[in-house]
Amino acid sequence: MTNRFDPLPAAHLRERQKAASQALGSAAMILPGAPVRHRSRDTEYPYRPDSELYWLTGLTAPDSLAVLRGGEDGPHLTLFVPPRDPEAELWAGARPDADEVQAGTGADLVLPLSEVADHLPDALDGCDTLYFRLGAHPRTEAHVVDALRRARSRGQRRGRGPRRIVDPGEVLDELRLRKDAYELALIRAAADITVRAFQALEGELGPDVPEWRLQAVLESTFRGEGGDGPAYPTIVGSGANACVLHYGSNERVARAGELVLVDAGTSVGYYAADLTRTYPVDGRFTAEQRAVHQMVDQARAAAIAVIRPGATVQEVHSAAVTRLTEGLVELGLLEGEVEGLVAEESYKPFFPHQTSHWLGLDVHDVGDYALGESSRVLEAGMVLTVEPGIYFGPGALDAAGERAEAFAGVGVRIEDDILVTPEGHENLTAGLPTTPAGG
Ligand code: GLY
Ligand code: MN
Ligand code: MN
Repeated sequence: MTNRFDPLPAAHLRERQKAASQALGSAAMILPGAPVRHRSRDTEYPYRPDSELYWLTGLTAPDSLAVLRGGEDGPHLTLFVPPRDPEAELWAGARPDADEVQAGTGADLVLPLSEVADHLPDALDGCDTLYFRLGAHPRTEAHVVDALRRARSRGQRRGRGPRRIVDPGEVLDELRLRKDAYELALIRAAADITVRAFQALEGELGPDVPEWRLQAVLESTFRGEGGDGPAYPTIVGSGANACVLHYGSNERVARAGELVLVDAGTSVGYYAADLTRTYPVDGRFTAEQRAVHQMVDQARAAAIAVIRPGATVQEVHSAAVTRLTEGLVELGLLEGEVEGLVAEESYKPFFPHQTSHWLGLDVHDVGDYALGESSRVLEAGMVLTVEPGIYFGPGALDAAGERAEAFAGVGVRIEDDILVTPEGHENLTAGLPTTPAGG
């Protein structure tokens, strides 16, 4: 047995730090770590590092902060970490010392966290722009505001101090959008484990199966097979719960004749998979369920077929929307020409969400979907979901009236994870059939 995954080598992290610092120019970026959150009194939630800080430094410990300077001499990364503390380490385990942090992260300088306030004014010296997310880190923000004030007051004699404050996502989102080989290996591992978890779940389906048991089978496989655990709250929605897009209580018992929509994924090394299948609880679709399932699956296939470098996110969505609108016309739920119905967005009461989102360290990963008026052009190395759905919840029933009565409570979503490759695409979750055997 080997470790679940190896830490990213410092030389590789250094490449990311170089790329970020090139984009920074003469600016500085401050990235605080995620705080420890308490669920009650002294009981903590499991710790999850901040995605941006992790991407740049590989740091996973709480109470850390990074300052990255750009410039002609290359990156200069200073990390502030909690110092060794025998009392804290008794409870939470050994902390790395400064040398170990430096060796593991590629940082130029490692200082104790208590020195942030003293060090920040120097760290901002001579930079015109500060990349820092205002409003997101109250504790650090107080130090940042103080450092800015001090940098400005020195400014009359030694430059003028930063004049612009910009969200770090401006630099980091673009870099994180294109996945490197290390990231793709982890997303693949997460997708493979998630597929196996769904295969285990399929053996449990049957009349009167509780939603929570299906959730338990999935999540036990996630962890048992070496995943981190759920990358987002597991959705097991039976009957009309399938129409609640982010249903999460999983407290109902699924009945024969109903559908159950399952949307779940593990992460591995913090990189997520995100998979949805919709099953007939007792193995056989009704005619209405089959018709809806078929059109959603066709929309999924049509959208995936579009994916290649040079295609846009909007083209992927349009392919799904067109097939779903055709299907709604075929079922008599919409009337008119498909082109006009698409232009009027008549499908929206039935398909109220987008077809895709980016996938990576965050399940809804970072990166703009449009640049100005133009939809994002896909490039090799990007990873996105394709997840069309049709839901006959209250909104759709209101819009379609009596015609939709036979479909009331039917909700179908089918979701795959797609890597854009130089030649086109690769479906990372293709190992799990979209239509259940015998359905
Ligand atoms: N699981 C959330 C989503 O599919 O976007
Ligand atoms: Mn999903
Ligand atoms: Mn998704």
